Formats: sequence, C-alpha cells, structure tokens
Amino acid sequence: MKGKILKIGVLASGSGSNLQSIIDNIEAGKLQAEIACVISNNAASFALERARKHDIPALHIDHRIFTGREAYDAALVETLAEHGVELVVLAGFMRIITPVLLHAYPGAIMNIHPALLPAFPGLHAQRQALDYGVKVAGCTVHFVDAGTDTGPIIVQATVPVLEGDTEETLSARIVAEEHRIYPEAIGLFAEGRLKVNGRKVSISP
Ligand code: GRF
Repeated sequence: MKGKILKIGVLASGSGSNLQSIIDNIEAGKLQAEIACVISNNAASFALERARKHDIPALHIDHRIFTGREAYDAALVETLAEHGVELVVLAGFMRIITPVLLHAYPGAIMNIHPALLPAFPGLHAQRQALDYGVKVAGCTVHFVDAGTDTGPIIVQATVPVLEGDTEETLSARIVAEEHRIYPEAIGLFAEGRLKVNGRKVSISP
C-alpha cells in the first residue's frame, strides 16, 4: 500500500524477541509498518523495555485488576484504538483472548505459534513435538479466531528435529524461523496481499 503505513499494536508477555525482529525489520526498511504501541499484561516483560529503547509507547495493562477476561480485553481495545492500531500482533501474549477483542479487530489479529499447526497447539508445543517423535518441526503465523491456535494459516516454516535435541535446542532453531516469518506475514498484510476464504489464506503476487 503506497502512502499509508500500517499501524500495528504488539501484545507480548515474555522476552519479546519476536517484537525485536519486527522492530529490526522496520528499522532496516524491510517491513513497511509502524508499531503504534506495545502492550503487556506483565510489568516485567522484556518486550516493554525493548519498546522503550526504540521510543515506542510501552504500556503495562495488568489483567489482575480487571473483573474478567472481557473487561480486560475491553481495556486492550480502548488502548489499541487510542493508538490507531489497525493490526493486532500477538507475540508471546500469554492470555486467552475473548470475542471482545476478536470483534473489535475482525480478520486483523495475528499470532505466532512454535509448531506446525494443526499439530501441537497450546502450551509447550516444542516439548509436545519432541515427545511425539516428529522428525520435522517448525512455526506458524495464523489469523486468530475463537479457538486456541486454530485460525487460518498465513505462513509456516520448517526446521529439522535432530538427534539429541532438547526442548531448548529445538526451541532455538524454531524461534530463529519465527523471527523471519512474522515480519514476512505482517508485510503481506500491510501490502493487502492476504485474502481469507474460509480456512484458506491466499497470497496474491
Ligand atoms: C514464541 O516461541 C512464540 O511462538 C510463542 O511465544 C514465544 C514468544 O517469544 N507464541 P518472544 O517473547 O517473542 O521471545
């Protein structure tokens, strides 16, 4: 899209390495988007510090002070809207989101999951893959729907599972691919190249 820069809001709870790769891709001119704000439910999330270092508004919204998930999501929606966010990017956000957020951003919420969905949804995906004995693992960027890690798949990347892999070594191999495909998926969205038809996402050239 020429002339208009997509405004994204990143929600993160943990280390924020995916946030960092998005920041780096934007600063390197490889991704045409602007991070309008970073929000975390966790005051200690390193994602907030990464955002502040790059002069990106960094907000801690503590889920514990709200009466329920819907009230929390209503606060998220208000903050995202205040910052003009058009695409919500979940990057290690450890909260289940509700229809309040889903309906505020229809077709405009993405998530990254450290497995080749639909295999190994939910927590500890890398450990699930190792325990299952798969020979190939990977990561998935998908649109978010009402289920857990069930929405239409946008981009995936594979990595081999090697003899002697531990959860840590496999996770490190996967996260390196996450850092590549998340900015790529956001770029496709920003360029208006993603079309969702039922479960299927087509990418126009
Ligand atoms: C990543 O493995 C991502 O796939 C999962 O949570 C982790 C977040 O890592 N959803 P980081 O906070 O971006 O470093």
